[in-house]
Amino acid sequence: MRHQRVRVKVPASTANLGPGFDSLGMALEIYAWIEMGFAEKTQIELFGDNLEGVALDKSNLIYEVAQMVFAEAGEHHPELYIGMYSEIPLTRGLGSSASAIVGALSAANALIGGKLSADRLFQLASQLEKHPDNVGASLFGGIVVAFWDGARAEHIRLEPHLDMEVLVAIPSFQLSTEKARHVLPQSVALPEAVYNLSHSSLLVASFATGNLAMIRHAMQDRLHQPHRAALIPGMTEILDRAVEHGALGAALSGAGPTMLALLDARGGRRDELEAFLRNTFVKHQIEVDTRLLRPCLTGVQVLPAEQGDCSLLELAKGELAV
Ligand code: HSE
Repeated sequence: MRHQRVRVKVPASTANLGPGFDSLGMALEIYAWIEMGFAEKTQIELFGDNLEGVALDKSNLIYEVAQMVFAEAGEHHPELYIGMYSEIPLTRGLGSSASAIVGALSAANALIGGKLSADRLFQLASQLEKHPDNVGASLFGGIVVAFWDGARAEHIRLEPHLDMEVLVAIPSFQLSTEKARHVLPQSVALPEAVYNLSHSSLLVASFATGNLAMIRHAMQDRLHQPHRAALIPGMTEILDRAVEHGALGAALSGAGPTMLALLDARGGRRDELEAFLRNTFVKHQIEVDTRLLRPCLTGVQVLPAEQGDCSLLELAKGELAV
């Protein structure tokens, strides 16, 4: 069914989950909302605090991505209304740009009656973002195991364990993915490669079988985290000691600087773990915001928006209050 206006709700994502560099992602219950409709003249409205620097003209990423969808579907809709509200902090390793891309693809596709398949949206999103673990998680929800080889992306989605929670510690400073990739070596020795593929495989198997006790052994990385440690004061201590404070395992979230710790909701150690994450950053004079989240199971959701509905902001705030 075609729509004049739609709204989408897109989850944030955490990429890598330690050893699964560029290949393992999980959707998280923090969201961005995008409203999109056909218009006489393009208008872009941004709400909230997490969208500084976002373009308000036709160079806007969401506008450009929507035009790609229309072009691929053989349609022409140069004038659009776009509204966006986001709870996802920018450049902190929580997939804000992947969420924007997935939201734009899904909203534009919903406007034209879903002409493109979910797989096609995943291919486009992976080409644009280059990180199939981020875009796959935002599109499909849950845990996503994926590759993108430059031509094609493939994925399998896993259901997260129902008792698994995620504590994120979001430092106040920003770190661009570009900068965090720049510190990585272009080649690795065979032992490092073997270390990562064995740990990443074991981590996938732990998630797939619900073996939470194995996560502490599996969630270890030698490919990217050691090289990024100098950019994130406190990171090494968190990786080394989070398990002592009740975590199932800990990792840098995506390219950072957010740190992520998985925990078992039944363990009763949330407060201890949160205090450990917070105090470790504070010791390095870094302000930090900690949030206890659940994995998001649904992926992007399309909600038709009819005239007279509440505003995008009211919708988002209403859901946050629930
Ligand atoms: N997998 C990417 C990286 C994350 O670690 O550089 C991009 O969000």
